[in-house]
Amino acid sequence: MNVTLDVVVLVSGTGTLLQSLIDATEAGEVNARVVAVVSDQEAAPALMRARRHGIEAIAHPYRRGTDRAGWDAQLTDIVAAFEPDLVASAGFMKLLGEAFLARFGGRTINTHPSLLPSFPGMRAAHDALAAGVKVTGATVFLVDEGVDTGRILVQAAVEVLDGDDAEVLHERIKIAERELLVRAVRDWRPGEA
Ligand code: GAR
Repeated sequence: MNVTLDVVVLVSGTGTLLQSLIDATEAGEVNARVVAVVSDQEAAPALMRARRHGIEAIAHPYRRGTDRAGWDAQLTDIVAAFEPDLVASAGFMKLLGEAFLARFGGRTINTHPSLLPSFPGMRAAHDALAAGVKVTGATVFLVDEGVDTGRILVQAAVEVLDGDDAEVLHERIKIAERELLVRAVRDWRPGEA
């Protein structure tokens, strides 16, 4: 049976990973459709990308100092309304909380710009350069309650080149990440977690 996968994508920034997934679904390379895009940033260019493709795009900003668990519970409800088979965190810069994982744990994937378990956290390209590694990469993994600790689904290596700064290296990693995200969604089998 070949059922189309309904995917909600979580984003915070420019959304080039989201774009690669939208493009792959529209080209029929992946048997999935992006049913909604949700961001913690009202002005995220990723939301505009979604709207350009007729995809519902919702901002759910978190105000610093306010009830984080409440924000997480609302995020859970927003995503649940779309009844996704899979949630893809693609450049979403917030940790998902208890309520969210209680509902979507086991079917939420995340992309990360390093070869996990090396260089978890927000500054992966910077940390790889600081460590002096010659090879880093990208990982798509299943989200758990830790920081970039979930089960690894797919990885790709990316060379560190002489003269790289964190931004240049991160952009090269993102080329690999876009392919990995598409591959992870294409290969996703419901209930595989
Ligand atoms: C990607 O490199 C993604 O892995 C990273 O943000 C970038 C998003 O790019 N996310 C994290 O580091 C999460 N901890 P994009 O906005 O162009 O898709």
